[in-house]
Amino acid sequence: MGKGLSTGYLDAAREIAGSLAAELAEDSVRAESVLKEALRSDCDLVSSVGTHVSDAGGKRIRPLFVSLGARATGPEYDANRVAALGACVEMIHMATLIHDDVIDGADTRRGRRTACDVFGNTAGILTGDVLLARAMEVLATDGDLAIIRLISKAVVEMATGEVMEVEARGVFDLDRSRHLEILRKKTATFLGACCKAGAIVAGGSDELCDGMERYGEDVGMGFQIADDLLDFRGSPQTTGKPRATDFREGCATMPLIHLRGSLTHEESEYVKSKFGNGVAEADLDLISTWMSERKSYELTERDAAAYIERAKSALSVVPRAPIAELLTRVADLMVAREA
Ligand code: FPP
Ligand code: MG
Repeated sequence: MGKGLSTGYLDAAREIAGSLAAELAEDSVRAESVLKEALRSDCDLVSSVGTHVSDAGGKRIRPLFVSLGARATGPEYDANRVAALGACVEMIHMATLIHDDVIDGADTRRGRRTACDVFGNTAGILTGDVLLARAMEVLATDGDLAIIRLISKAVVEMATGEVMEVEARGVFDLDRSRHLEILRKKTATFLGACCKAGAIVAGGSDELCDGMERYGEDVGMGFQIADDLLDFRGSPQTTGKPRATDFREGCATMPLIHLRGSLTHEESEYVKSKFGNGVAEADLDLISTWMSERKSYELTERDAAAYIERAKSALSVVPRAPIAELLTRVADLMVAREA
């Protein structure tokens, strides 16, 4: 698990109520055990790729959101369904990351070699397909049509967002609104769906389910913007990923979108010539210095914070005060990350 959120949400839960932390830890153990079982395969290569990705850790945000969505609704729900759906959304997430690393040709993630680097692109892509299909099996076994529709739609959005991102590659002048649309599709919708799925399992009203979905989506927007900020400003030792991958790949993200507005014509031509075009470390140093001096980082932080505040305001529909408090703290932790 990454810093901040992984231990942070349990610390926050403990501060709110010892029993809440224990219950969340139980949810996490249960989901992890379903995940381990679901990753078993009679094909050794599938097991090895799945285990490699699972053992790399990850923050397990999506199963946590399923469980928080359920707990926000009420204490009476089927914990086994929550665990199964938690494992399901984590497998979908794992599949997307394996595919994303193939698309990006990434050799490190979470400080470890990526699956495609260790096992090759073909094994990575196919194991991603197995994980996605396994997740569908779990969904079908659960059998709730509203959840099946919700998660399937979110996966369609995620894949579409990724295609839109590929389409936008190399577009230095990418519109802020188009960029936000891509973030919503590739990251936010799925996090919203995780929260809503949990609320549905626990029998939440439409108002509560929709409120949880909005919370998850806005937290997802804040999370992805913070992730894109870390891509430029984070330390590779802490993030476990190389610096400025987005810029190197010609993906315009919020720090660059803000920087663009502060550049002279010559500076803009210079940054554009390096964008997705084999940028040297010295150029990156200069570009990051500009981002810092010209407040691009600060403005990006503000964008993320605005989504986090919006996420918190969606929590007015949550009837259980301790869970609403925990969701507020989790929202803050999602952008206060170092990894
Ligand atoms: C990581 O974002 C990637 C995603 C959030 C979505 C990836 C989606 C796909 C590859 C398509 C759908 C695939 C399946 C199997 C349904 P990022 O690249 O900004 O983050 P990173 O820095 O962690 O790579
Ligand atoms: Mg990526």
